[in-house]
Amino acid sequence: MTTGTFDLAEGTLLGMGNPLLDMQTRVDKSFLEKWSLKENDAILADDSHIAMFPVGKLLRRNVGFLKLVRRARQHSRNRVRPRWSYPKRSSRLPVDPQRPQSRHLLRSRRKVLREKAMASGVNVHYQVNESTKTGTCGVLLYENFRSLCAHLAAANTFTIDHLDVEANKALVEKAKFYYIAGFFLTVCPPAIMRVARHAAENNKVFMMNLAAPFISQFFTQPLMEALPYVDVLFGNESEAAAFAEANKFETTCVKEIAKKIASLPKVNKNRKRMVIITQGDEPTIVIENDEVFEFPIIPLQKEQLVDTNGAGDAFAGGFLAEFIRGKPVADAIKCGNFAASTIIQQNGCTYPEKCEYQP
Ligand SMILES: Nc1ncnc2c1ncn2[C@@H]1O[C@H](COP(=O)(O)OP(=O)(O)OP(=O)(O)O)[C@@H](O)[C@H]1O
Ligand SMILES: *[C@@H]1O[C@H](CO)[C@@H](O)[C@H](O)[C@H]1NC(C)=O
Ligand SMILES: *[C@@H]1O[C@H](CO)[C@@H](O)[C@H](O)[C@H]1NC(C)=O
Repeated sequence: MTTGTFDLAEGTLLGMGNPLLDMQTRVDKSFLEKWSLKENDAILADDSHIAMFPVGKLLRRNVGFLKLVRRARQHSRNRVRPRWSYPKRSSRLPVDPQRPQSRHLLRSRRKVLREKAMASGVNVHYQVNESTKTGTCGVLLYENFRSLCAHLAAANTFTIDHLDVEANKALVEKAKFYYIAGFFLTVCPPAIMRVARHAAENNKVFMMNLAAPFISQFFTQPLMEALPYVDVLFGNESEAAAFAEANKFETTCVKEIAKKIASLPKVNKNRKRMVIITQGDEPTIVIENDEVFEFPIIPLQKEQLVDTNGAGDAFAGGFLAEFIRGKPVADAIKCGNFAASTIIQQNGCTYPEKCEYQP
């Protein structure tokens, strides 16, 4: 696929998704068991998980959570340090045992998210719901695995009229590339469809990711409605497998699945669908113009691997950085691998101060 060469004007790439503040902590196997979480998964919190999050009655629940972590720790031979870590250099959320914290917490989370996004060059336009907490995502690290449990809160109250706000309309019109995480399918498919149609009508590039296996399993209908508009689809091997199962592909071969996804019906006939499936430390499968390509990753020693949280998103971010400049796919993959490799060698979703990337 060629996308032409664009100078990177501000607003070239537009994303839509759930704003969630990650709360990351190391846990023990018994902690995952206690909350019925798999070691490597990404799920939406249900009522049984809410008590895990330090929200609402912040202090008590927070203490409750940490206690659980500590209990988990006693069962463990490893030394785990129970603590929430927030995105790099953000201050801890303030805790004052004398006063109810929820209002303060609402504002702080939103503020942290906005500051972090703006500082990384992302111009965020949140729809703010004053009566609901900003969403969070529990990032539970266990050995080299990570289990995500998202408590969407305010993110789940998003409404399509946010796209009618003049400033936001202008952003949608200005963008030439769109990237929407599959997770947003659980919140507002009509908003996805509106942007998807705009992209197809204007021959712009519409991209999504498969997000997590549960999206293909339980949100098959909105996913399959959006798919005909998707020019570039990202996913990992377990998400591809879930997609194949939901669509009765009757194959478990990643290349076959990717090829089949690429050949599903498409609205914009100007370009073929590209499908990119990452496989952890195995090569990345790419379908471009109906051809299968395999791209190696950057091999790491076991001890270099700190925490794989965010590998997939970092890969997509690195890929997009080159792709939206009109660079060939091989260059984009190289940058994606670099970004992913960097992030998994650091704790949390963090990067070193300076970017050492050599295109
Ligand atoms: N063990 C590893 N060694 C080297 N590179 C890795 C490893 N794991 C992940 N990567 C890099 O990260 C990319 C994405 O990895 P992966 O397929 O595991 O994503 P993911 O499962 O979607 O990640 P996550 O869901 O944790 O964000 C890989 O293509 C590769 O570049
Ligand atoms: C793929 O991504 C999902 C969701 O992010 C995660 O739960 C799963 O473990 C990943 N699969 C592999 C094989 O890395
Ligand atoms: C804000 O969230 C509440 C639920 O917590 C919901 O009832 C309300 O409709 C939302 N408001 C807006 C403007 O979305």
